[in-house]
Amino acid sequence: MFSYQKRLQYPIDIKKKDLRLAKYLVTQYGGANGELAAALRYLNQRVTMPDNRGKALLTDIGTEELAHVEMIQTMIYQLMKGATIEELKRAGLDTHYAEHNKALYPTDAEGVPFTVAYFATTGDPLADLSEDMAAEQKARAVYENLIDLTDDPDVIGPLLWLRQREIVHFTRFKELFEYYEKKLKNGNNEWKDMGYSGDEYMDSSNFMEEDEMFFMPNQNNSTNTNSYKNKMQKEADNNMMPALPNNDDILQNLYNPFELGNMIMRRM
Ligand SMILES: [Fe+2]
Repeated sequence: MFSYQKRLQYPIDIKKKDLRLAKYLVTQYGGANGELAAALRYLNQRVTMPDNRGKALLTDIGTEELAHVEMIQTMIYQLMKGATIEELKRAGLDTHYAEHNKALYPTDAEGVPFTVAYFATTGDPLADLSEDMAAEQKARAVYENLIDLTDDPDVIGPLLWLRQREIVHFTRFKELFEYYEKKLKNGNNEWKDMGYSGDEYMDSSNFMEEDEMFFMPNQNNSTNTNSYKNKMQKEADNNMMPALPNNDDILQNLYNPFELGNMIMRRM
């Protein structure tokens, strides 16, 4: 079962209305590489992962993606808050208003409604995990595109956080992919027939510690800071993350989202 914690994974407090950005950001809600597609993809594929390790990882990441859906919803809501009809018309959101007023609706940035065709499930763990790795990289790239389209630090902070989580997810999927690949290479096909029972979901992979999952930039929590920094450093050392301008700068500015956003923009 799922239980709900009444807080966002990363605090969101956008003070400046920006309808144009809301229109683009919606793609991370209902677009092909968005958080809703990610959550459903993993929570669906987990059932036929061949062992507890796979089921647990896809459960953990799929669940975290639900928290990201919530963050994106909150961001869109805050970006649109208080908009007048005239402002909505100017931003090209009059068609959205006609159908949905100011309610949220999962579409991509071009207004194409969410579809389950955004993800696949083959039942082959290697094929499904390849899709998942690609999905994480595409989500990371879209977050970088979105960061390019804003200069609001209240927006850049959460987008950077979400972008970083995609890199962590990619890395975890890659580890699992390589683990299964090795098993296959060793001629062990038994895992293909392991089946599943619901209880296995309870065997959590603990792929992330709670203090790492909840990013509180305004709290001086050294455990949080160190564990997060260490993970970033490890990923950078292992070349698991895309090249960033300068890893030391990134680490030093981890809690200065505006400067971090500038650095990412300068990279491009
Ligand atoms: Fe992700």
